[in-house]
Amino acid sequence: MSNPSLANTLNHQVRLASRPVGLPTDANWQLTQETLAPPGPGGVLVKTLALSLDPAMRGWMNEGKSYIPPVGIGEVMRAGGVGVVVASDSPAFEIGSHVAGGLGVQAYCHIPAEQLRKSGLSRIDLRLGTLTQWLNVLGMPGMTAYFGLLQVGHPQPGQTVVVSGAAGAVGQTVGQLARIKGCRVVGIAGGQAKCDWVVKELGFDACIDYKAGQVKEGLRELCPKGVDVYFDNVGGDILDTVLTRITRGARIVICGAISQYNATSAVQGPKNYLSLLVNRARMEGMVVFDYADRYPQAIAELAGYLKDGRMISREDVVAGGVQAFPATLLKLFSGENFGKLVLKVADE
Ligand SMILES: NC(=O)c1ccc[n+]([C@@H]2O[C@H](COP(=O)([O-])OP(=O)(O)OC[C@H]3O[C@@H](n4cnc5c(N)ncnc54)[C@H](OP(=O)(O)O)[C@@H]3O)[C@@H](O)[C@H]2O)c1
Repeated sequence: MSNPSLANTLNHQVRLASRPVGLPTDANWQLTQETLAPPGPGGVLVKTLALSLDPAMRGWMNEGKSYIPPVGIGEVMRAGGVGVVVASDSPAFEIGSHVAGGLGVQAYCHIPAEQLRKSGLSRIDLRLGTLTQWLNVLGMPGMTAYFGLLQVGHPQPGQTVVVSGAAGAVGQTVGQLARIKGCRVVGIAGGQAKCDWVVKELGFDACIDYKAGQVKEGLRELCPKGVDVYFDNVGGDILDTVLTRITRGARIVICGAISQYNATSAVQGPKNYLSLLVNRARMEGMVVFDYADRYPQAIAELAGYLKDGRMISREDVVAGGVQAFPATLLKLFSGENFGKLVLKVADE
C-alpha cells in the first residue's frame, strides 16, 4: 500500500443479493466488508466521498437485456461517484486528486491498471463546480439534460418546452437550459414546494403540480399554443396527457419513465400515440453514454452558466455512508428527494 495510513482499513460494500419484484427491499441487499488491498501495478485506490443515486439503478437490478448489463447477484452495486485518490501506482492519478467515475456502492474503489480506461475514471476540477455539482449538472444528469434537450429535442427560440420531473436532477438542468436557449418552459413536478422552486429560483415560466391532478387543464392554460418539445422523465399517464397537447412537428425526448420502473405488471405504454401521426411528430429515446466523447464540450458550457449565474443547481445530500444506500435509494420513487439525490459516504 503506497499509503501506510490505510493498512488494516476495512472497505464496506453494498452488494446485490437478489432481484426485486416491485420496489427494492432490504432483502435485495447484502452489506459486506473486506480488508483493503494495495492498488497493484499501475492501479489506483479511490476513497468514495459521495455517490450518485439514480433511478436507473432500479433497472440495473433487473435480469435481462438493456443498454448496459445488469448488476450480477453478489456484485457490488453499480454507482457513479466522486472521490479522492488515496493510493496510486498510476502517473495519471496522483494521491490527493479528485476523481469521478463508476466507484460502486462502497467506501473504497480499487481500480486495477487494465480497468482504468474502461472504468471511466476522470479527474474533476473543483474550480468549475462543487463535488456534488460534479454528480449533478456537471455529471451524468447534466450530460443527459444537455444532449437530450439539444440533440434530440432541438428546441428553437420562442418554442414551448415541457419537462417532467422538473425539480429533479435532469429536469432542473433541462428547464434552465431551455430558458437560456430562448424557450418558454413549463415544468411538471410533485407538490407545491417543488413547483414554487422551479419557477421562483430556476426561472421556469410555470410549473404544474401533477399530484394535485389537473395536468391536462394546466397544459391547456399554460401552453396555449401547444407543446413543441416534451422532455419526458416519467412516462405513464403524464406522457399520455402531454401527447394530447403537442404541436405539429413536436419532438418528445424519451429520457426515462420512472413511473414504470417498479411496475409488477406490464409497463404502461402511451395510449395516445396516434397524436404523433396526426401532428407529424416524433418520440425518440436517448442514452447519455452515447455522447461520452462530447462531455467535455457540455461540461465547459454548463460550467460557464454556473459561473455567470445563469444556472443554479440543487443537490439533496443524505448522510449515512454506504449502509444508508438501500433506504436512501427509495426516496427517488416516493419523490422525497428535492434536487439531485446524493449519498454522502465520507469526509475527505
Ligand atoms: N436516458 C438516459 O440516459 C438517462 C440518464 C439519466 C437519467 N435518466 C432518467 O431521467 C429521469 C430523471 O432522473 P433523475 O436522476 O433526474 O431523477 P430525479 O428527477 O432527481 O428523481 C426522481 C423523481 O421522479 C419523480 N417521480 C417518482 N415517481 C414518479 C411517478 N410515479 N410519477 C411522476 N414522477 C415521479 C419524483 O419527483 P416528483 O416529486 O416531482 O414526483 C422524484 O423526485 C429518470 O426517469 C431516469 O431514469 C435517463
